[in-house]
Amino acid sequence: MFYPAIRKVLFQFDAETIHELTIKGLKNTGATPLNAFYKQRVIDKPVQVMGIDFPNPLGLAAGLDKNGECIDAFAAMGFGFVEVGTVTPRPQPGNEKPRIFRLPEANAVINRMGFNNKGVDYLVSQVRSAKFSGVLGINIGKNKDTPEENAKDDYIHCMRKVYEFATYITVNISSPNTPGLRALQYGDALNELLAALKVEQAALAKQHGRYVPVAVKIAPDLTEAEVQSIAQSLIDNEIDGVIATNTTLSREGVEALEFGNEQGGLSGAPVKEKSTTVIRILAKALDNKLPIIGVGGIASSSDANEKLNAGASLVQVYTGFIYQGPPLVKEIVNNL
Ligand SMILES: Cc1cc2nc3c(=O)[nH]c(=O)nc-3n(C[C@H](O)[C@H](O)[C@H](O)COP(=O)(O)O)c2cc1C
Repeated sequence: MFYPAIRKVLFQFDAETIHELTIKGLKNTGATPLNAFYKQRVIDKPVQVMGIDFPNPLGLAAGLDKNGECIDAFAAMGFGFVEVGTVTPRPQPGNEKPRIFRLPEANAVINRMGFNNKGVDYLVSQVRSAKFSGVLGINIGKNKDTPEENAKDDYIHCMRKVYEFATYITVNISSPNTPGLRALQYGDALNELLAALKVEQAALAKQHGRYVPVAVKIAPDLTEAEVQSIAQSLIDNEIDGVIATNTTLSREGVEALEFGNEQGGLSGAPVKEKSTTVIRILAKALDNKLPIIGVGGIASSSDANEKLNAGASLVQVYTGFIYQGPPLVKEIVNNL
């Protein structure tokens, strides 16, 4: 594959410019013969999780295709599932640029995008026009200017809009770049949110005649007791799955690097152990009552297997994919 050569050129430019160009290219080619540039066959490794049949356990993590514009392209690369979003009820610009930084010495990225997206109606229009018929996760969040006490309304608004089009829905309460969002991971705030989502899910299942599982995405920056408490809330509220983890606020190991002290969430190799630790604690606390989707620092099949051995049933990649491109999908899936 020629991705290393392409990457050398791509990495000469600002990270977000390249991201935008890539998304445009994938959007325009995903469902055309030009997808031959990245289309590949991977070995079938079927698994059933949350009642859903996945062709293989490797997914694209949320945040790369925020508006659901490239679903066909990512499917062509061999991902077993694609998670789009995070999407919010209304379009919003996100934080000021620059807001994404590569730390190549650490195989890491720091981002403070702040849920830049074109809004849930646009995302639904994109999903509608995609040819893809595989497993699609839709990741939902809240607008920055929605007060924290009304966060629930934003999630419910998005849930209603995307329900019909999603194979599963992810409730993102762990981005570090929306002030107050992570507060939803604790105690009463979490229980109230989950209970409300569960009621809505039941109503929507009845309305559409189809049950769409709901997963909750959590942060790596939690104590053991906090993870255990979240696990209990997930069980009590009969949530269908948990995604662990989002990016970290820690700067351990990258402080001395260029951009190492930029604000935002750190992803890639430096978050790997933290995420695996959260998965281990969850696996013990959940006792197989609900499945775990492992994400954080996966850059090889052995990293992916580590997450599966820690208790995950599925895995996702983001930063590793930025550094290695489509060959990583094949390497991981074929060696799981
Ligand atoms: C630039 C960037 C944007 C992201 N945006 C989102 C997002 O919108 N929603 C979300 O749930 N996670 C988002 N994430 C987090 C990833 O989905 C993933 O959980 C995290 O980066 C850890 O995995 P990784 O080490 O493979 O990147 C983003 C990550 C990056 C690097």
